[in-house]
Amino acid sequence: MPASGYAYLCEFDVLKEGVPRRFEAEGVPVSLVLRGRELFAIHDVCSHSAVSLSEGEVDGCTVECWLHGSRFDLRTGRPLDPPATRPVPVYPVRVEDGGVYASLAPPSAG
Ligand code: FES
Repeated sequence: MPASGYAYLCEFDVLKEGVPRRFEAEGVPVSLVLRGRELFAIHDVCSHSAVSLSEGEVDGCTVECWLHGSRFDLRTGRPLDPPATRPVPVYPVRVEDGGVYASLAPPSAG
């Protein structure tokens, strides 16, 4: 049983290394990114304009927005390049019994 406040997103097995995947729970779009032994959950809407970050490229611990190229730190949600200036929320994530869960409220932004 996941800790209370955690919402189910997907089975861990569907995730591929370095390939962002969009899921939704409780009306919140979340991009999951697996990097080595780390799993990140970041809000799947760019803070610059409302496009999906899961359609961008992952490089190290960043995801690059496909529309204007801002990179966001997967650990903090902070933008590393213009034009985005505001962070996007990142969510605590856990894997239990093969399922991936995230704590979606309240979100924390870097
Ligand atoms: S929409 Fe993402 S950087 Fe502009």
